[in-house]
Amino acid sequence: MIKYERPRGTEDVLPGPPDPSQPPEERIFRTDRWQALENTFRDVCERFGYEEIRTPLFEATELFVRSVGEGTDIVAKEMYTFEDRGGRSMTLRPEGTAPVVRAFLQHKLYGRARVHRFYYLGPIFRYEAKQKGRYRQHHQAGVEILGAMNPAVDVEVIHLGLCYLTELGLTGLELHLNSIGCPVCRPRHRTDLVAFLGGKLDSLCADCQRRYRENPLRVLDCKEAGCQRTTADAPVLLDYLCDDCREHFAEVRAQLAGMDIDFGLNPRLVRGLDYYTKTAFEILHGSLGAQNVLLGGGRYDGLVELCGGDPTPGIGFGAGIERALLALETEGQELRVPRRPRVYLTAVSQAERRRAQLLARDLRSQGQCVDVDCEGRSLKAQMREANRLGAAWVVFLREDELAQGRAALRWMNTGTQEEVALDDLLPILRKEEEKQRK
Ligand code: HAM
Repeated sequence: MIKYERPRGTEDVLPGPPDPSQPPEERIFRTDRWQALENTFRDVCERFGYEEIRTPLFEATELFVRSVGEGTDIVAKEMYTFEDRGGRSMTLRPEGTAPVVRAFLQHKLYGRARVHRFYYLGPIFRYEAKQKGRYRQHHQAGVEILGAMNPAVDVEVIHLGLCYLTELGLTGLELHLNSIGCPVCRPRHRTDLVAFLGGKLDSLCADCQRRYRENPLRVLDCKEAGCQRTTADAPVLLDYLCDDCREHFAEVRAQLAGMDIDFGLNPRLVRGLDYYTKTAFEILHGSLGAQNVLLGGGRYDGLVELCGGDPTPGIGFGAGIERALLALETEGQELRVPRRPRVYLTAVSQAERRRAQLLARDLRSQGQCVDVDCEGRSLKAQMREANRLGAAWVVFLREDELAQGRAALRWMNTGTQEEVALDDLLPILRKEEEKQRK
């Protein structure tokens, strides 16, 4: 028999309670946690006035090459690119910002309002070496604001990201901040950086030698200890900002301080995508080792124009869902969607089973969560199943009681049992559910 396994660098998200004998990621990536995380993110976004946008999982390759940048690791080494049957080059989205900008332009969303606030949730594909916290298919919770230049918007986006992570229950978050300038201030920095690196090429890793040729700024982002030592005194963009970028960044910092949001300046934070301008930020969590960035983002004031639109500023972030779940686990935080109480209907004879089927239909149509045996199992086996499913109540359907329109209702937590009229069952269950909610 052929044995199939999930592709390397991907994870399944499984229902049910975790099994302690499973490897950590199988234990941690459970549907209930995933849903709870998504609910929190949606809730925070809605409170901030963002609207959900969904774009396709693949786009024309050219969109990513132009926007993310040819010299980036993502475009140079990590994209899942394929030719479709019509001979067009397509790429599974390696990030979420360019598709949002593409949709914004294609549907002329800019006509509707001046400032546009979007959020999204979904898979992202990058062919990267597998590591703890690094996957070939990961998932991002992200936001993008298009059309706003004011530093208050930078602060809003950072605040939203922090609210999301803290409302998940995470502590120990570190906000790192930088400004990476704009096309006005970058050329002077680039000239000095190239001159600085030029004499040190031999002590840079092979990737940085490529970065030196294609996009020298990226060398500052290298995680190799040797490269970090070599570039410790390299010129940083913060010292080269033009007046506009300097004022913008000063205002972002002042407003963050005014909101009591702690941050550290990190002049080496350059981000891995070419579209960034001005404010760049990351939120880190100490527990995750090398892959410790939970959320990363920044301004991209030139991207809409680069994609063919009128000049329109933009800012946003993407936050890895897997990494947030791993960080929660290390903090021992539980994250769970409260499960709705379930009622289990037992039935043994053919007549009882028919009645159970009808009752299940009626209760479900009235909003109740109902389980019923479909395999003709013994009463004992059905009770075992009710326990396994964590049913709050069991209704025993027996022919003699059914003939009088009645059945026994058992509260599973206390073992109490009562005979009730079937017509009263729904109001009783609703009342009980209401009690549990309080
Ligand atoms: P990014 O920094 O490449 O930015 O990714 C955002 C976040 O996704 C990271 O901070 C990390 O939490 C998570 N992430 C990235 N790669 C992986 C991976 N291989 N495995 C697991 N998690 C990963 C962007 O993608 C930008 N589009 C964010 C943005 C939106 N900037 C402005 N708007």
